[in-house]
Amino acid sequence: LASLADVDVEVPAPNRRQSRLAAHTAFVGGFANTPDTDPALPANRAWGAKVLGAVEKSPLGLDIVAAAAVTNEKQLDAVFARVLPAAKGWAALGGKGRAAILRRAADVLEETRGNLIEVMAAEAGKTIAEGDVEVSEAIDFARYYAQLAEELDTVDGAKYTPSTLIVVTPPWNFPVAIPAGSTLAALASGASVIIKPAKQAQRSGAVMVDALWRAGVPRDVLALVDLKERSLGEKMVSHRQVDRVILTGGYETAELFRSWRPELNILAETSGKNAIIVTPSADLDLAVADVVKSAFGHAGQKCSAASLVILVGSVARSERFEKQLVDAATTLRVGYPSDPTTQMGPIIEAANGKLKRGLTELEPGERWLLKPEQLDETGRLWSPGIRTGVAAGSDFHLTEFFGPILGIMRAATLGEAIRLQNQVDYGLTAGLHSLDPNELATWLAKVEAGNLYVNRGITGAIVRRQPFGGWKRSVVGASTKAGGPNYLVHLGSWSRTKATV
Ligand code: SER
Repeated sequence: LASLADVDVEVPAPNRRQSRLAAHTAFVGGFANTPDTDPALPANRAWGAKVLGAVEKSPLGLDIVAAAAVTNEKQLDAVFARVLPAAKGWAALGGKGRAAILRRAADVLEETRGNLIEVMAAEAGKTIAEGDVEVSEAIDFARYYAQLAEELDTVDGAKYTPSTLIVVTPPWNFPVAIPAGSTLAALASGASVIIKPAKQAQRSGAVMVDALWRAGVPRDVLALVDLKERSLGEKMVSHRQVDRVILTGGYETAELFRSWRPELNILAETSGKNAIIVTPSADLDLAVADVVKSAFGHAGQKCSAASLVILVGSVARSERFEKQLVDAATTLRVGYPSDPTTQMGPIIEAANGKLKRGLTELEPGERWLLKPEQLDETGRLWSPGIRTGVAAGSDFHLTEFFGPILGIMRAATLGEAIRLQNQVDYGLTAGLHSLDPNELATWLAKVEAGNLYVNRGITGAIVRRQPFGGWKRSVVGASTKAGGPNYLVHLGSWSRTKATV
């Protein structure tokens, strides 16, 4: 772009929704992101109260999940027998035809916003604000992948052939945005889809899938399954007519899928152990706010979450940053999403195993700056925890705990901080807070992570403007980014249609 004056800016009317970013940046590369709900408007607050009022007894999705039960191999075979032949007709629609249905899906998802927020709150403990952003992201995926589907038809010199069948296995932590993103990408690419939502978030996945069906995606092209036996998962992934699997989940799950079927064509976005570096040149107030948001948003249950802060030089030597961080984290209101004032919700299940250890046990050299407290008998509600003195190479440095605990490390120089940041096996998100261009250049040259954020929180990638994907053990299979321009091209196959000179 020559200048912003050249951009045809569409500013959303200041009524029901507001833009996620300032209006003048709302239109990038011919694509405008879906605005979130503006909680400052009285009408929206009334709407939000109604949504949350329904959360506790919400039945949403129960009937759809019940109808998706697959209890034995025969029933699974029947699902395959339904979706495999349907793929031909879906592919024959062409990118343009599929894009039209995806755009309708975007509209239906928007109409279903309240129900989607309700079911995510009921099932996964998402606050209304976190749920709202997810619905916007799902709508963005529908509209953006529709645009990419149309482009598939027009690649000069190459012919695109869709996969027949893509299996989608999403996680529970983004129970709408990630299942929607993976499913919509596969559909846009021209494949039939079998989706198996995570068991903790099946109803959210079901309400999302139902929206796509209502928008005109045929039920034989998009099948929802609730596999009642573990062995059925192996059978599904190993089925030789599954062309690809899109997985978002733990690194170990990707390895398990590969052990079931070594030649499996997989696109997996896996685990992370993500750090934000704060240097002496940083705007410390901004850094504190971004760290709190990145560490404790959705109670730290994001693969992108900050679970380490690495303080450099004089920031490491003074106590100011830690004090401010503790103050900020202490003011977070922890509760259930049915209470509209809740800022940090519950964890998905009662803490046990590794997470319980992370919430209750310290390693040598560490002490609690803020000790996590269990707030009720469910085992799900914990106040945020901050440990300091995390040692290089310790368990907390290298392991993903997936909960509301943050660790603080110290480094004498930026170089040492980057080495600590890179020492983990994963490479998903990484942050730098610095106002020094030389520091930024050094960091960019050395940091090993798929998604880099400067002077911003490290969660909440936005479709089209911040494509999202990992590096190192945060990715298995095709290394490409969801919500980015190259995602669909990895979902089918290509042949050359004319000689290149
Ligand atoms: N896309 C999410 C984020 O950026 C993670 O999956 O936080």
